[in-house]
Amino acid sequence: MPSTTTIPHPPRRVPILGDVFGIDSETPNQTTLVRFEELGPIYRRSILGTDLTFVGSAELAADIFDETKWEKFVGRPLEQLRPLIGDGLFTAYNWESNWSKAHEVLMPAFTKESMVSYHDTMVQVTDELCETLSTSNDELVPVVDAMSGLTLEIIGRCGFGYTFDSFQRADHPFVAALTRSLTYAQKSGIPVPFIGKLLRRNEEKQNAADRALLVETVDGVIADRQQTGERRRDLLDRMLYPEGDVTLDPENIRNQVLTFLIAGHETSVNSLSFALHFLAQNPDVAEKVRAEAVEVFGGTTPKYEDVARLRYTRQVISESLRLWPSVPGFFRVAKEDTTVGNYAFAEGEWAFVLLLAVQRDKQGWGEDAEEFNPDRFDPQNARGRSSELFKPFGTGIRSCIGRQFALHEMALALATVLTRFSVSAEAGYELSVEETLTLRPKDLKLSFTPR
Ligand code: HEM
Repeated sequence: MPSTTTIPHPPRRVPILGDVFGIDSETPNQTTLVRFEELGPIYRRSILGTDLTFVGSAELAADIFDETKWEKFVGRPLEQLRPLIGDGLFTAYNWESNWSKAHEVLMPAFTKESMVSYHDTMVQVTDELCETLSTSNDELVPVVDAMSGLTLEIIGRCGFGYTFDSFQRADHPFVAALTRSLTYAQKSGIPVPFIGKLLRRNEEKQNAADRALLVETVDGVIADRQQTGERRRDLLDRMLYPEGDVTLDPENIRNQVLTFLIAGHETSVNSLSFALHFLAQNPDVAEKVRAEAVEVFGGTTPKYEDVARLRYTRQVISESLRLWPSVPGFFRVAKEDTTVGNYAFAEGEWAFVLLLAVQRDKQGWGEDAEEFNPDRFDPQNARGRSSELFKPFGTGIRSCIGRQFALHEMALALATVLTRFSVSAEAGYELSVEETLTLRPKDLKLSFTPR
């Protein structure tokens, strides 16, 4: 081993049990962010013999992003999702052949040509969102629910030709089951002593019921398409009728549909909600987004090419994703004996890179790293900045396949909403962030006043 520097651990280590003090199963990522301030940019929690190593600086993360030495690791919270989405793209092990097969079949669904084909549906769903918002009569709107309707409809209709009727029914059981499943995965991914397991029995039952509902819904979506025999250029069509020699088995198709409904919905909901929070808190920024949208759209229905021209809106999205990355971090495993800074890692050891910390690293972002400032992403200011400082969509071959999809739907939605509404915050609201597997603003309500 090239180095023997010992990785720090939290205080009050207990024999056998290990570092059980200070475990936080409600907001583990935000607690980890605080731990870095106390312990430095890397620390290790050992619980009942299992090591959890956390990395929170851009300098150390740069080593871990090296694809020749590290790769994606399906860490404990992701493993907890395996009973639900199995070998779907997000949770597949690197060695599973179904990952490369599905990657090959589905990559064409995210080319520019495919994105152009989704655009009109995204515009249509965004219009429906605006219609719903315009009936709010200046009352405070729960933002996560509203954005959930938007993104579920977009991925449902663009990906699978399926509508969840999200704007007609506020309390969709599918969405509730999805959210609970992610919370369950996050909580059960944290190793707890025996008593914690007893307390989780009810949650286990609920989780089984949620899984049944999610699987039943998805099986219905697939069966509908098979019965009608309808052909359309979407994700489901590509999986049911692949063009090349690679085919996906029915169980894997179900896993992929569920994966996309989760990965393509939850993350964008939260990112849009954070962005709207920042826009409500920063009227000058909102005004710039509005002015840009008015100029680019020119009072007509947004065209596909227009969205790429919403440069300032994209800066707002990036800055919001920087401060509150909806995927707070990801796991990587060492492919060989290697080092991270001065710390030795043996082949097979893994670490969790907390984006929440890396993307607020003061060395890279400056002393005002905690402040919201979209000008950081002005191309002039971003020149020369190291890429590891900003990785909200992950890194390497297992990074987000839906990145362009997400950026397109988010820019279109924010720009459209701001041309039609003034967005204001609830008096006295202080941002509080809850954690499922993702990060989301808690109880965020905004008013949308038609302009
Ligand atoms: C703001 C929105 C989004 C964010 C922040 C985000 C973030 C991420 C991140 C960080 C990863 C890598 C996770 C890891 O390394 O363990 C990932 C993977 C993935 N994302 Fe996204 N995502 C977003 C939207 C979407 C959308 C809209 C879709 C689909 C339409 C999608 C589908 C996926 C899939 C399938 C993977 C797994 C890719 C693979 O391993 O081959 N994501 N995403």
